[in-house]
Amino acid sequence: MEAPAGSMVVYLLLSCFVATSYGVYFSSLNETLIVTATHAKDQALKAGEEQITVTWRFNQTYKAGTDSSYKMVKVKLCYAPISQKDRSWRKTEDRLKKDKTCPHKIVARPYAASNNSFTWTIEKDIPTGVYFVRAYALNAQDQEVAYGQTTNGAKSTNLFNVQAITGRHVSLDIASVCFSAFSVVSLAGFFYMEKRKGKASQQK
Ligand SMILES: *[C@@H]1O[C@H](CO)[C@@H](O)[C@H](O)[C@H]1NC(C)=O
Ligand SMILES: *[C@@H]1O[C@H](CO)[C@@H](O)[C@H](O)[C@H]1NC(C)=O
Ligand SMILES: *[C@@H]1O[C@H](CO)[C@@H](O)[C@H](O)[C@H]1NC(C)=O
Repeated sequence: MEAPAGSMVVYLLLSCFVATSYGVYFSSLNETLIVTATHAKDQALKAGEEQITVTWRFNQTYKAGTDSSYKMVKVKLCYAPISQKDRSWRKTEDRLKKDKTCPHKIVARPYAASNNSFTWTIEKDIPTGVYFVRAYALNAQDQEVAYGQTTNGAKSTNLFNVQAITGRHVSLDIASVCFSAFSVVSLAGFFYMEKRKGKASQQK
């Protein structure tokens, strides 16, 4: 009587394994959301300072009810192909569990078919790069069931640049190093002058 129980366990384990390892493929999702991102300018948005406003809504060309399983929307900042080149850690994989295209979460919100807007200050840790925004619709099981993005399928239009905060920190650091060097030199100069003054007065 051990055997059936044993195979039951194996079967359960296998089905869990299958369920978790197969997951969702991006290519199986329909682009039913219309996503836009607006920003003050097109070039070099400064991380930690500048903002993007993302809106999303259901594309009404799809049959009503297509979105009945949508529970949440997860909005993400994604690398354009040019910022993925030679960086395997940002690689696009069709299997979403392994996909590294969109590692930066912008916001997650309960699903609504229209009137969704979120203004996001680009976080300080966002690296310099070329980006777009993608939103995933999730079902009650937290699985991706549809998406929308600000760019086209080839990820070549409507991209924007973010400039990381580090570039500016470096120049600040250089400024403070120069300033300290200047202080040390002037302090040394001050002591030298004082010593000379002291010697001069002793000689009088
Ligand atoms: C995508 O749309 C097609 C046609 O409307 C439909 O058959 C398919 O089930 C949809 N895929 C998903 C993941 O909802
Ligand atoms: C809505 O979906 C249709 C069908 O896929 C598509 O042709 C159309 O461009 C989409 N509308 C917008 C504004 O993206
Ligand atoms: C969307 O927003 C507009 C203006 O704020 C409002 O008139 C409209 O009723 C809203 N629509 C939905 C579906 O909430």
